[in-house]
Amino acid sequence: MKIQSVRGVSDILPENSFLWQYVITKAREVFCQFNYQEIIIPIIEDAKLFNRSLGADSEVVDKQMFIINRQDDTLALRPEGTAGVVRAYLEHSLDRKNPFVKLYYVGPMFRAERPQKGRLRQFNHIGAEVIGSNSPFIDAEIICLASGILESLGISGFGIRLNSLGSREDKLKLSKLLRKLLEPQLKSFCGDCQNRFERNVFRLLDCKNESCQKQVKSLNINPDDYLSQESINHFEVVRKTLDAGKINYQYDPFLVRGLDYYTNTVFEINHPKLGAQDAIGAGGRYNNLVKELGGSEAGAIGFALGVERLMLALEENKDKIEPEKLDLFIAALGEAAVAQAFTLANELRKAGISVEVDYENRRLDKKIARASKLGAKYLGIIGEDELINKNISLKNLETGEQEAVSFEINSIRKVIC
Ligand code: HAM
Repeated sequence: MKIQSVRGVSDILPENSFLWQYVITKAREVFCQFNYQEIIIPIIEDAKLFNRSLGADSEVVDKQMFIINRQDDTLALRPEGTAGVVRAYLEHSLDRKNPFVKLYYVGPMFRAERPQKGRLRQFNHIGAEVIGSNSPFIDAEIICLASGILESLGISGFGIRLNSLGSREDKLKLSKLLRKLLEPQLKSFCGDCQNRFERNVFRLLDCKNESCQKQVKSLNINPDDYLSQESINHFEVVRKTLDAGKINYQYDPFLVRGLDYYTNTVFEINHPKLGAQDAIGAGGRYNNLVKELGGSEAGAIGFALGVERLMLALEENKDKIEPEKLDLFIAALGEAAVAQAFTLANELRKAGISVEVDYENRRLDKKIARASKLGAKYLGIIGEDELINKNISLKNLETGEQEAVSFEINSIRKVIC
């Protein structure tokens, strides 16, 4: 019996892996433009890290963590990257070297969710975290950075929703306000919402049930009722800066995020093409997390984009994004010619030219057919005559031009490059 992949994970096959590389490479370029440095953190962490950071009542910790019990340790496959980055920041005292850091990461995350289009159990994040600043301009920079990555990939039509949850005290006020507003109608909410009401009222705002959503949207939430003046001022600068930078966003007072650590600015980026799972990325401030994990007071903000969802959004443009073409395909006829092709190919590769050699003992037309199927720029033929003359017959597969070139690497390079 064949062994299948496990539920909710996907293989990225060669016909799509170039798109994957394209997404990551473009993102890295934009991170570089914004002066972010890469951090590479482990996939497994102490499960306590996520309980403390994301909150034991969050959907992710409550229901979706992949837990590994090993001897006395309870480990978790990381469901997200923020907690691990803050853990690493504190563990290596990055704040001592420089209290202000701008970091990015790329890698797999794990959540035991019900799989569907755009929702996997192993998926990948391109994420960024800025630690050590309370400046509202950093909030605007982070949002510019996220939308800059989407733009650099040629993704358009996405929308950014923006809200402020305020400080820890403001959030407490907001949760009390929500309880007061929701209690009279709680019976008409779904069972899940009723259970969540006491433990984490914010989760009612995230419920996907249509009737719950309708009721939530009819609530009269006024930011002045729960945001402090300081939080209002901060949010105003964020909005003004985004307006000045011509970054389109929509203020959404119902946007709360499912993870406990968020404070102040939160945002979500949605793409209508993605269907039910339309969040292509999300983020926000988490001003208390560094302290909660044992550090000193430090403002922080970040976001993560879902790579698989970026790839879905790119599906339409896929034909415009071409993988690197193979420079040269060598069709050699006979064992001596194949041996010559082997040596030549190795030297050409060292000189930076991509080369494929057909080692099989088959007819020339079959070898040529493979060269065109691979989309090679040049076809090189080495037969008996070429061996005697110590040259390779190079054919430009686009123009049809053909010439005999000596086996010398520089001569071949001159024609191909
Ligand atoms: P998140 O909203 O949980 O935020 O995830 C960010 C993005 O990851 C989502 O918008 C979505 O594109 C993608 N994503 C999440 N779950 C799945 C899944 N099961 N399958 C496929 N894609 C998925 C965070 O994780 C925060 N750490 C972001 C952040 C960084 N906030 C501050 N800093």
